[in-house]
Amino acid sequence: MSQSSHVITLLPGDGIGPEITAAVVDIIAATGVKITWEEHIAGKAALDKMGDPLPESVLDSIKKNKVALKGPLTTEVGKGFKSVNVQLRKSLNLYANLRPTKTIPGARARYTGVDIIVVRENTEDLYAGIENEIAPGVIQASKIITREASTRIAKFAFEYARVHHRKKVSAIHKANIMKLADGLFLKCCQEVAQDYPDIQYNEVIVDNCCMQLVTNPTQFDVMVLENLYGDIVSDLCAGLVGGLGVVPGANIGTEASVFEAVHGSAPDIAGKGIANPTAMLLSAVMMLQHIAEDHAAERILSAVYRVLGEGKVLTPDLRGDATTRQFTDEIIKFIN
Ligand code: NAI
Repeated sequence: MSQSSHVITLLPGDGIGPEITAAVVDIIAATGVKITWEEHIAGKAALDKMGDPLPESVLDSIKKNKVALKGPLTTEVGKGFKSVNVQLRKSLNLYANLRPTKTIPGARARYTGVDIIVVRENTEDLYAGIENEIAPGVIQASKIITREASTRIAKFAFEYARVHHRKKVSAIHKANIMKLADGLFLKCCQEVAQDYPDIQYNEVIVDNCCMQLVTNPTQFDVMVLENLYGDIVSDLCAGLVGGLGVVPGANIGTEASVFEAVHGSAPDIAGKGIANPTAMLLSAVMMLQHIAEDHAAERILSAVYRVLGEGKVLTPDLRGDATTRQFTDEIIKFIN
């Protein structure tokens, strides 16, 4: 363990966010890693208190500390303020969304041996949020795909593959229909692939990709996708290994990185004390690796795997009856 103290921005978030971030903070503290958490609010709570769902102070804190751990934030459907998650990614240029989806020992899932890295472009596509009513009853939403962002995400995926000794990168697309937009994305992936002759490269149309994922998920290694396909396909991947409660995520940029679970604020179970903190905890493990606290990350991983593997103390989403607190205490018990 490093003796130095880290300063990290903490956004507990909405719904189950405060419950699962509290659990994660306790588990990290049990490893002895010294972290000073700079806590901020964002989303509806910040709008009510400070008149802005994403106050400048939040962005300043993340820019200063370069690392944040974030709980889920609620985004209203079809109305309300623009998604703070999307704004955060755009404002901090967190261009790569990284979601490792791996079979977890003990977590009940339909498949074994899944080990897929989903690399999702995080800044453009339909998520640029450009929507216009061009005539009454006619809405136009713009899909923005640029050479710059597509090349950057392709490089990220291939570089990740090389550094982590992965064998294959699959570019997922719908260029048979969106010949210009997805065609450009594919072209950029093909160009980048030429610089990585040691890594296999293939292309899969997104609808076929979904079918292949549920019939034979172990054929996939690293996947690189535009924003919208990445959002959908990464949730599908989460379903292969036990659901949203167990899959971590990271939003990586050149100046800062924000670590967060794949799942949302789960309003249906918020406040009941039964949320599963595993996804948030595994995101925090990615964060600890990012700040070179690898030993603490390893100790947390083996404790989580042990608790999930034994299957005695599990939250209801994993068909157990433990509370978030009981599950957290069980993990802390095995941190040594
Ligand atoms: P959700 O992920 O919040 O919930 C989907 C289902 O999974 C629910 O049944 C929920 O109870 C369950 N679930 C999710 N996380 C769980 C956990 N840790 N433990 C146990 N069960 C869990 O997705 P939903 O309902 O579509 O979205 C709710 C809100 O979250 C929306 O406002 C959405 O915009 C927001 N959201 C925020 C994200 C973020 O901040 N990164 C990501 C996804 C959604």
